[in-house]
Amino acid sequence: MHDTLFLFGATGDLAQRYLFPSLLRLLGDGLLPEDFRVRALALSPHDTEKFRDILRPRLEAAMPHASQEDIGNLLSRIDYRSVDLRNAESVAESVKNLVHRTCVSYLAIPPGLYISTCEGLALGGALAAPHRLMLEKPIGSDSDSAEEILQSIGKWIDEDRVFRLDHYLGKAAVQNLMALRFGNTLLEAVWNRNYIASVHILVAESDGVDGRDSYYSRSGALRDMVQSHILQLLCLVAMEPPASLEADRIRDEKVKVLRALRPLDAKHAAKDSVRGRYTAGTINGQPAQAYQPPEGSEAETFVGVTAHIDNWRWAGVPFHLVTGKRLPERTTRIEVNLKPVTHWLFERPDRKSATPNRLTFQLQPQENIQLGLMSSLAGPEWGALELQPLELELSVPTGLHRRIAYERLFLDAFNGNHALFVRDDEVRAAWAWIDSISDAWKAADLPMEPYPAGGWGPQLAHDFLPESIAADAGPEQGL
Ligand code: BG6
Repeated sequence: MHDTLFLFGATGDLAQRYLFPSLLRLLGDGLLPEDFRVRALALSPHDTEKFRDILRPRLEAAMPHASQEDIGNLLSRIDYRSVDLRNAESVAESVKNLVHRTCVSYLAIPPGLYISTCEGLALGGALAAPHRLMLEKPIGSDSDSAEEILQSIGKWIDEDRVFRLDHYLGKAAVQNLMALRFGNTLLEAVWNRNYIASVHILVAESDGVDGRDSYYSRSGALRDMVQSHILQLLCLVAMEPPASLEADRIRDEKVKVLRALRPLDAKHAAKDSVRGRYTAGTINGQPAQAYQPPEGSEAETFVGVTAHIDNWRWAGVPFHLVTGKRLPERTTRIEVNLKPVTHWLFERPDRKSATPNRLTFQLQPQENIQLGLMSSLAGPEWGALELQPLELELSVPTGLHRRIAYERLFLDAFNGNHALFVRDDEVRAAWAWIDSISDAWKAADLPMEPYPAGGWGPQLAHDFLPESIAADAGPEQGL
């Protein structure tokens, strides 16, 4: 197992909120090597003591149950270097005295700095075998910039030592999608265009852009969420069963789904997509301000888009993908709507009012699986048989020990397992589809629809939302 972590972007929000707390848990559970150490790197001119003083309260806040002993143990393994990531010499210098160990460099920094940072790492010897590289999403901001990053970094390190993160893949609830699909006979039998009418994938957040303006105003929800997390969820729902759990067998199947996505064109932009930006509103009784990106920014905070997967299994089944910030609640769910029963026998309800079966995977904040069925509540006589919708619900016990996504991803990268990381061809295929959407928006001049913070998105988003949410959301809630 690799024993040295170079953590670039160590003073940033991601590192302080998730990466160091994940390392703390892994260390406390004895899952890291005896002599594990971290070199924290960022631009701020701190020394090691100052950095540890800043990190300690962040760790205490993020992990209230962690012991002081474990926190002290992690802090004692961290040293800090200030580095200028635009300057390859500075990066090379910052890693030089540790490259005799087995190192993993983790870039939790804006993608615009990937190339210069990797050039420095290569110069300092930190990308030579057996060293590894972990890269946060997004890889670039469109196909061209992604290609430039892939090609440049490819000159310095082989694909089998690169680990591109999408932290959704590290979530236990997301991995459970594969378990449910491929560990049961029941689902696979109906998992195709013959039985499924539509699929909705929703990643809703109540948080706003808050403090990430400079990144977000250049990215927007399409690039920030759809290109990565939502497309990964789509792949797990739509892919063919892999022949084994070997990383490349899974990634081969995911990339086939991405390549089968029909590009959006200007003619279909208004029917198959909607984009929006939140205005001032109220969330949980608290006032929330409008998102106002700088002049010239096209950043949307809400996207609804219908994906068409042009292959044998899914032809004709719309996948409605939705994500937004400042929505009423944080929830990630996948709703699979089955087709109506072929021949309806019952008087009550009549055929039109019968509810087709629906399978819902709620991934966060709580995990549960719901199956909507029609059932009789045992009428007094046969003639009065009356059906009603009934929910079968399977809640994942809340006490279950679920690791933070990054814990799993750290361990897998240290152990060299690529199954939960994104391969270069997946990145290319995902950007190709995303580019078609932003090009179609430009060509069709698709308006930016306003929606109040705390509502379920713009009026026009109604048909994209999962039916369970659209049914509850009325005009007073922003629709
Ligand atoms: C990140 C996005 O990748 O995922 C954020 O950049 C978003 O904008 C976050 O808030 C959501 O992650 P999670 O795990 O809270 O659903």
